[in-house]
Amino acid sequence: MTILITGATGRPGGATVREFARRGTPVRALVRDAARAQQLTALPGVELAVGDMLWPETLERALDGVDTVLMISSAGPLMLETQATFIDAAVRAGVRHLIKLSGGDGQPGFDPERFRSTRSHQQIQRYLKASGLPWTVLAPSQFMQVYLEEAATIAAAGELRLPMGGTALAPIDVEDIGRIAYTVLTTPGHEGRTYPMTGPQSLTMAEIADRIAAGIDRPVRYVDVEPSVKRDEWLAAGYPPPRADAFGQLFAERRRHGAARVDLSSHRTFDVAPTTFAAFAAREAAAFRAEAKHARTPV
Ligand SMILES: NC(=O)c1ccc[n+]([C@@H]2O[C@H](COP(=O)([O-])OP(=O)(O)OC[C@H]3O[C@@H](n4cnc5c(N)ncnc54)[C@H](OP(=O)(O)O)[C@@H]3O)[C@@H](O)[C@H]2O)c1
Repeated sequence: MTILITGATGRPGGATVREFARRGTPVRALVRDAARAQQLTALPGVELAVGDMLWPETLERALDGVDTVLMISSAGPLMLETQATFIDAAVRAGVRHLIKLSGGDGQPGFDPERFRSTRSHQQIQRYLKASGLPWTVLAPSQFMQVYLEEAATIAAAGELRLPMGGTALAPIDVEDIGRIAYTVLTTPGHEGRTYPMTGPQSLTMAEIADRIAAGIDRPVRYVDVEPSVKRDEWLAAGYPPPRADAFGQLFAERRRHGAARVDLSSHRTFDVAPTTFAAFAAREAAAFRAEAKHARTPV
């Protein structure tokens, strides 16, 4: 059985490819630029295929003989077109099962229509279901790895600066997603199912700051910044305005809700021990101290 993982240089895709390598199961990884995928080529059993999901003519070799796909691409403005184009190519290539990495915020009442990425995920899921291809959806909450993007301010000023008020989220470690995805990709019986997943605790930003502080053994305090101030900080950090605006939408919708729901049903189904934020912060201490590189959200 040939399994293809797209988004393999990214966060959940990379974690899933690493899980295949750890288990000694061969896998094919789609990348746009082989020169930027050296960490993947170093892993045992990983076959690289170069192609762009927006350009079907570049996907023929990558999709040749593929039975099952884990489809992931960036949460940018092109996500709908990218994944719809890829679904069409997968249908033409005779793929038998497509697993889509989606996203859910985990907050009861969160309206997916109010944030570009969650809205796009809904549209892609409708497109996938209409394609006739057997499908499965993985729906993780916010990634813990997102907080690594705040590392520069955490290291320099001891501050986690986000426009979140007292709202809580239940972020998940992408390594947990990789372990769950591995089983979904390699065992039968998942067609037509949606697997939601979150981290093990609903945490306010102050509680997340406390856990990062413990992980790096330095004080870190949460600062509830005004949305307009955070937008200026994102722009100063090099985010293009549409991306800063999309994040503004996301945080505005999150602030409307209180606590996040914890949903460990998929962890239990697939026998994956949920990683706590404290364990994640300790593991990533060098990155939170800005001493080690981390993968940023692609622009
Ligand atoms: N961030 C969160 O907290 C969160 C939570 C839940 C769900 N999600 C969802 O998870 C998914 C991935 O998240 P992310 O934005 O953090 O990105 P990511 O997984 O870190 O990176 C995106 C990956 O997609 C690849 N890619 C993008 N466009 C492509 C194309 N046209 N052809 C081939 N590969 C392409 C990128 O390859 P290159 O290396 O070539 O750029 C990269 O490997 C998104 O759908 C997002 O909505 C995110």
